[in-house]
Amino acid sequence: MTKAVADLNHRLDLPSDQDSTGRSLGQEEMQLLREVIERGHLNSTRGTMVERLEKEFAASLDVKYAYACASGTAAIHTAIAAINPDPGDEIITSPITDMGAITPILYQGAIPVFAEVDPRSWNVTAESIEACLSARTRAIVVTHLFGNPCDMDPILDLAERREIPVIEDCAQAYCAEDRGRLAGTMGAIGCFSLQQGKHMTAGEGGLVVTRNDQLARRLFLFINKAWGYGDPQPDHYFLALNYRLTELQGAVAVAQLKKLRPMVEQRITAASQLTAHLKGVRGIEAPGVRPESVHTFWKYCLRVDDKVISGGAATLASRLKKMNISSAPRYIQKPAFMCELFQKQRTFGHSHYPFNLARPEVLHYDREHFPMTFEALEHILVLPWNERYTEEHVERLAQGIRTAVGESVGGVG
Ligand SMILES: Cc1ncc(COP(=O)(O)O)c(C=O)c1O
Repeated sequence: MTKAVADLNHRLDLPSDQDSTGRSLGQEEMQLLREVIERGHLNSTRGTMVERLEKEFAASLDVKYAYACASGTAAIHTAIAAINPDPGDEIITSPITDMGAITPILYQGAIPVFAEVDPRSWNVTAESIEACLSARTRAIVVTHLFGNPCDMDPILDLAERREIPVIEDCAQAYCAEDRGRLAGTMGAIGCFSLQQGKHMTAGEGGLVVTRNDQLARRLFLFINKAWGYGDPQPDHYFLALNYRLTELQGAVAVAQLKKLRPMVEQRITAASQLTAHLKGVRGIEAPGVRPESVHTFWKYCLRVDDKVISGGAATLASRLKKMNISSAPRYIQKPAFMCELFQKQRTFGHSHYPFNLARPEVLHYDREHFPMTFEALEHILVLPWNERYTEEHVERLAQGIRTAVGESVGGVG
């Protein structure tokens, strides 16, 4: 045990993705930002940085098309708009995800239909998706939660048989892999976020990728008010928004992309060190990674057994807080469908649109229909994670966790 670990009375200051301690922003970003400023053109339609980002991001995933957009939410919105559902069509998604992955479905007039999650990975599965399919299903959105990829083969099989496109939400899953394939390249469209806390960041921003020519055209147009840039007789072809990224964000993202691989590797290394340190600690379970997949640890998420640790994840979190170790029990607090948006159907004026078009059975938002989802959130403890965690940080973090667990189970740890 190092001296630092022995001395845990000193509060633990871990690098944070909310400031420079846990972000890798430096001269490379400065240099490209300078180029943009000196050029004086900050808008992407005639700039070079966003275009460069799109080319380099597409190449990094070996896909034909990548388009940058304003946020991860905008990326999901753009993907849904590319699929072009009719009002009241259904899009299957996860109840454990960011709200930015769900509201775009409603904005496009479609109904989010929630699939149950797997009790081990908290991801949706082919089985839970199949239970949600109907004649109105127009797409499936899978979230690779915390960087842990969904088990894609059975999902892709199912989707292919029914000719339903799969949208991969990779906001938390840069460089994650399932059976040798990168997250974002397996479905029809992949969506990414460049928000402050993601694997790579420009503060805000997003990216959509595809190999499909028709979808690519609609993705591009939706980001650009459906204006046919470059066409002989351009027009606004359909209802769409301005979801463009600026050149300033593009510059930062180009520099970040160059560092993405090493940043991801460091997250994985630190995570495997923590998993090793926590082996045998009663009452907590390290993230389950399927052997054929690569989890890239947007966050490190423990499962806390409240039969062993009295008070469960919440008590463990407050003990960790005393050591200055932050953690988030329950991740999103409640399943997405328990938020007022769904419970009160607060959408457009007093219309309840598009919920007023939904089949009643897809609006059953209770524990009876989603036992695993409720159970999962009650046992989740999310530890912040980033590429600046060193071996010593991890050692001290592990020691803090063992101490907190020990206090809860009477000397174990
Ligand atoms: C899984 C998932 N999807 C979508 C989003 C939305 O991304 P953004 O915050 O960039 O709009 C997030 C962001 O936190 C996310 O984690």
